Amino acid sequence: MTGQENLKASNRSTVHALSPQQGSTDRGRQNFIFHVKRQLGGMASTGLQQVARNRSGSDSPTREQSSEALLDSPAFAAWTALSKGAQRQMWRSLDDMIERQHEALDASAEAIAAKPSIGSLELAADFQIPEYLQQHAFHGQPGGYINSRDASDLRAGALQEAGGTLYSRGIGSGKKDSKAAAVVRFVNERFPQLDPKRVLDLGCGYGGQTCGYAQAFPEAETCGVDVGEALLRYAHLRAESLRVPLHLRQEDAARTSYPDGHFDLIVSNILLHEVPTAKMQDIMRECYRLAAPGGVVIHQDVPTQKADMPGYRKFLAMWQTDHNDEPFWENFADSSVPDALVSAGSDRQAVFEEYVGQIDGPLTWYFVGAQKP
Ligand SMILES: C[S@@+](CC[C@H](N)C(=O)[O-])C[C@H]1O[C@@H](n2cnc3c(N)ncnc32)[C@H](O)[C@@H]1O
Repeated sequence: MTGQENLKASNRSTVHALSPQQGSTDRGRQNFIFHVKRQLGGMASTGLQQVARNRSGSDSPTREQSSEALLDSPAFAAWTALSKGAQRQMWRSLDDMIERQHEALDASAEAIAAKPSIGSLELAADFQIPEYLQQHAFHGQPGGYINSRDASDLRAGALQEAGGTLYSRGIGSGKKDSKAAAVVRFVNERFPQLDPKRVLDLGCGYGGQTCGYAQAFPEAETCGVDVGEALLRYAHLRAESLRVPLHLRQEDAARTSYPDGHFDLIVSNILLHEVPTAKMQDIMRECYRLAAPGGVVIHQDVPTQKADMPGYRKFLAMWQTDHNDEPFWENFADSSVPDALVSAGSDRQAVFEEYVGQIDGPLTWYFVGAQKP
C-alpha cells in the first residue's frame, strides 16, 4: 500500500492490541449516548435556532441577540442539562469499560513492550506541567490529560482515544476522513513539492493522528510531543502494536528540545483551542524556530473563528467554555492565529488560513499555518 492508502485505512475505527472489548452493556450505553448526542446536535441547529429567531425577532440573530434570547429560555436550559448529562454519561460509560479491562490492558501492554521497539518514548521525570493543565479536565475527561496513577498507567490515553471515537461517531465521522488525512490532503495539494524528512506532531495525545502522518510519509521520521505521560505511554505502545515507528517526547509544545530548523512539516490537531492565548503565541514562536527553510507549519482546529458563522452558532460554541471545561474556547474564537504567526516571525504573504469541508462528512476543517522562506 502507498502512504496515502495506509493513511486512509487508519481511522477512528482502527483496532489494535490495546483496544478495549466492547461488551453488550457497553454497546447499549454507548449507543444510547450516541443517539442522544446526535439528537441534541439536531436540536441545536433547528429548535434552538428557531427560539433565538422568535425571541430576537431577527432571521439571523447576532451572537449577542442569541445570547439574550436563549439564556433565559426553557428550551436552552433543557438542552444544556441534557448535553451536560450526555457528556458525563459518555465518560462514565467509557471509563467503566476501560477500568473493567485494566488487567487485560496491562497484559497487552507488557506483551507489546517485550518486543523490540521500532519507535521511541522519552518521558521527563522533572517535567513541569503547565498550570492550565493542572486546573482543567478538558471536556470532562476523567482525571484530565495529565492523569497518571503509576509508572505504567495508560488510562488517560485509552480514555482519550475512546472518547474521541464515540464523539466522532456522534458527529458522523467514524470510518470517514480523519484529521490527519485532511491535513495531509491539504498539504499535498498546496505544497506538492514538500517531501518531508522529519515531521513533528504537537500535542499528539494518544497518537492516532501521529500514526496517520507516519503512514502518509513513510520515508520521514515522525515525532510527537505532549504533556501527559500516560497519554504518551499509550501512544507509544499503540503505535508499536500497529508497527508504526513514532518518536515521542514528553515536552511542552511551546518549548521543545529539538534543534533549530529540524522539521520540514510541523502539525497540530485541535491543540490551539485548548491553550491560553499567551501559550498559543509561544507555540507559534517555537514552530517558527523548529521549521526548516521551506518547511510548512499547519494547525488544524475548531472552525470557531469563521467570520460568516451564524450568530446563534457562535453563542452555542461558547457553551463549551461555560459548561464543558473548555476554558480557552472563547479566547480562541476571538483570537487571530494568522496574527500570532506573523508576530512569531512569519511573512504575512506566507500565511494561509482556510476552511475546507470534510470530503465524506459534515465537518468543516480549519487549517491555518505558514511556509518558512
Ligand atoms: C484535544 S487533544 C488532541 C490530541 C491529538 N492531537 C488528536 O487530535 O487526537 C489536545 C492535546 O494537546 C495536549 N497539550 C495541551 N497543551 C499542551 C502543550 N502546551 N504542549 C504539548 N501538548 C499539549 C494535551 O495533553 C492533549 O493531548
